[in-house]
Amino acid sequence: MKILVTGRGGREHALITALSESPGSHELFAYPGSDAIASLAKRVDAPSLPALIEWMKTEGIDLCVAGEEALLVKDDGLANLCEQAGIPCWGPRKEAAQMEASKAFAKAFLKRHGIPTADYTVCTTAAEALAALSSFPIVLKFDGLAAGKGVAVCATREEAETFIREVLEQRIFGPGNLVVETCLTGPELSVFASICDNKYHILMPARDYKRIHDRDEGPNTGGMGAVASREIVTAELLAQIETEIIAPTVQGLLKDGLRYRGFLYFGLMLTPDGPKVIEYNCRFGDPEAEAVMPLLRGDFAGYVAAAATGKLETNLIHFAQGWSICVISASAGYPASSRSGDLIHGLELVDGVRVYHCGTRQNSTGKFETNGGRVLAVVATGASRAEARDKAYAESAKISFEGLQRRSDIGRMHFE
Ligand code: AMP
Ligand code: GLY
Repeated sequence: MKILVTGRGGREHALITALSESPGSHELFAYPGSDAIASLAKRVDAPSLPALIEWMKTEGIDLCVAGEEALLVKDDGLANLCEQAGIPCWGPRKEAAQMEASKAFAKAFLKRHGIPTADYTVCTTAAEALAALSSFPIVLKFDGLAAGKGVAVCATREEAETFIREVLEQRIFGPGNLVVETCLTGPELSVFASICDNKYHILMPARDYKRIHDRDEGPNTGGMGAVASREIVTAELLAQIETEIIAPTVQGLLKDGLRYRGFLYFGLMLTPDGPKVIEYNCRFGDPEAEAVMPLLRGDFAGYVAAAATGKLETNLIHFAQGWSICVISASAGYPASSRSGDLIHGLELVDGVRVYHCGTRQNSTGKFETNGGRVLAVVATGASRAEARDKAYAESAKISFEGLQRRSDIGRMHFE
């Protein structure tokens, strides 16, 4: 098969690695990919989404796998355009991808289908939003894609007012509404499922670490690490999540006429009143994909290709027992700003773990340097959480670059 994956980060590096290790001979392509991904998949250059679709037709691409979300809602939508071109796509149509692209759409969907979530109000003006501030902490969410920066958990009225003015008056994220939402408490959990029309397959649960510093301090980031294991949730809790959240979501998509083929990421909070949905994402998580993929066994390429054409063959893949821990090394200044061009040392010393490149590039001598944001994901698996964590940290420690930021409590915090 000729398979194209869209995206350029650590998640796509992990997905492409899993595809490359699938049985059978597949030719892999990445749009736009990265210098590191180029060792596994040919990079594709296209000036626009329609041009990419034309290229896919000419090249005879058999399967398109959506890594990141942006293209799903761009122009007429990646999946819609693939469908028109007769190319199976793993990733939902534009209409269904609103589940991620619009917080207000997702909240209305959740309410309509009786799926547990926090109470909310959608506000179009600053005055409305200020009037909706009831108790603190309170959660404010920009209703659109904002590169992970559109959500503020505000401890005080002052913080909330500042964010409201930035979003609804200064328009720092552009036009769009603001969702004001009750603050939930409890550990967070990411649950991934493959959705194929009226069928679903629950994959592996994971937990990510969004804050930049240890003890969950500092601003939110794209994710500073992740833990994956079947042991993260009990069978009983997973059954509750399936009955109260996953199955009603799939039914809701069907009822609303939103055909969905692709990964669906349920961002949950395990509150004292039971699991509630914080968000949906129409793709795999990043860095959760980096933690989950090393545990995957079987024929991932065959599984995705079948699912993209409406056949969910759950027996084609399974997940190993044990634990997988992903530790991110991020660039100087991240997330407020981020520096590029710092030479990365020690990559050749790393052994016995997976290294996925999130934001690197090769310099003129072929050496990898930082390319902003999150830089590298080092992932170790082990029979126990401690074994995986010790290995991930021991190998991560061999890597260095100027201004490197790395949390020291991935796989410890929220478990001990
Ligand atoms: P989101 O982009 O919706 O996933 O939100 C980003 C992060 O904000 C989540 O991972 C949570 O840590 C936090 N968050 C979002 N919604 C809530 C809520 N209703 N209560 C508490 N924290 C929340
Ligand atoms: N791990 C958070 C995300 O992928 O959105």
